[in-house]
Amino acid sequence: MIWNRETRYTPYKAWPKNVLPVLKAQAKRSKWRLQHHIQPASGLLNDPNGFTYFNHQWHLFYQVFPYGPVHGLKAWQHATSTDLIHWHDEGLAIQPDSKYDSHGAYTGTALPVGDQLFIMYTGNVRDAEWQRHSYQIAAWMDQANQVKKVTPPVIAAAPAGYTTSFRDPHLFERDGQYYALIGAQTTAEVGAILLYHSSDLAQWDFQGELNLPAELRGYMVECPNLVQIDGQPVLIFCPQGLPQTTLAYQNIYPDVYWVGEKFDLPQAQFTAAGLPNQLDAGFDVYATQAVNAPDGRALAISWIGLPEIAYPTDAENWAHCLSLVKELTLKDNHLYQNPVAETTQLRGASQPLQATVSGLTGAFETEFTLAADEQVTLKVATADAQHYLAVKLDAQAGTVTIDRQQTGHPFAEKYGQTRTAQVRPHAALKIRLIIDVSVFECYIDNGYTTMTGRFFLDDAPTQLRLTGQVGAISGTVWNWDK
Ligand code: FRU
Repeated sequence: MIWNRETRYTPYKAWPKNVLPVLKAQAKRSKWRLQHHIQPASGLLNDPNGFTYFNHQWHLFYQVFPYGPVHGLKAWQHATSTDLIHWHDEGLAIQPDSKYDSHGAYTGTALPVGDQLFIMYTGNVRDAEWQRHSYQIAAWMDQANQVKKVTPPVIAAAPAGYTTSFRDPHLFERDGQYYALIGAQTTAEVGAILLYHSSDLAQWDFQGELNLPAELRGYMVECPNLVQIDGQPVLIFCPQGLPQTTLAYQNIYPDVYWVGEKFDLPQAQFTAAGLPNQLDAGFDVYATQAVNAPDGRALAISWIGLPEIAYPTDAENWAHCLSLVKELTLKDNHLYQNPVAETTQLRGASQPLQATVSGLTGAFETEFTLAADEQVTLKVATADAQHYLAVKLDAQAGTVTIDRQQTGHPFAEKYGQTRTAQVRPHAALKIRLIIDVSVFECYIDNGYTTMTGRFFLDDAPTQLRLTGQVGAISGTVWNWDK
């Protein structure tokens, strides 16, 4: 397939009926298919959308382009769950089939209101001159999961002074009033987050631009989020083009969090004592969506994939996945991320972590402690141990380095093949590493730092091998049953 404007934006209805079954069968045959992470049946998956608890279950939507591993005409795919770890596919929920979203039903969020789910998302439209128009569109989903779009869009265009790169509304409610944070770009091409207010969900008024300092904006902000953790506001956003002098990151675009002290809504003023940090120190996290769940937890889920980078599965006509659902907590103004407690239900047979652990079935987890000042390397390998993902732990320097050089299928090399996270030196290192065929999620020191990414071996990883001070490690390995 040649991916040009025409093929990327062909309406879904105009594709021959036999295309999707062929693509789905091809994806299904892939040795890189995941056992427990959400992945596209075919084509491309990107941002999580509309993550909420509504009508006695969890709802999660995500961006898809089902016809190929490229950023084409996006829709919202829908999945539901009762436990945050097993997801049921509900099919396409929002299709790009109106004049306000003809070139993509882009990212947005959802809020339960009464007995319905209120959704706001960005309608992406290209006109005959290929000029972009961005509409913020409201929609209601009922208890039978039927979505009805509201016309016309609730926000017809960005306010004066901003470009048409205006998207990804994040909805929240405060004291019976409704708000949306929207990613934006000034006409001087500086990233911004705009705050809108509504008292009835129909009329939305521009309230102001958030007071982000100049060095934190990049040229465009995507996917802004706001969650409250222990009464503190935490902003999560993706400032594209953020200078690496502001924040040391290696990925093409960063996903950052910023722990605030106060968010003054009428003034659109966010006050923070510290600075933003990378949300994940690994290779592939982007477009994280965070919500305050009705059970009191702050939850987040990320796209594991990055824009503008080719991945080995592209050749199989599918790309990317979502992370596990993570719980966010705060301690001393630092954000901790851990897989939700439900995740331990995926643990099957266990065994002690030893120099070699083999016979695993592609998806597994290990949790262990490395004594202070010791060093080990943990290899996540195929059965013949020819290729592996290396996790290098140095409890003297307090570093964790994940190295993709020996995986056999390199990609994104331009952005470096290793990532290093810095934690406390001269202290025991606590690691929880989750492997699901071609994705890893590494939680360091109880979630103080996380490192997430894709890696592609010739075969499923079925072995763990330790080298170095193996005696300084104690831990457990659980196979995850299919
Ligand atoms: C982030 C993003 C969003 C946009 C969506 C389109 O990855 O570019 O800004 O709404 O993807 O799929």
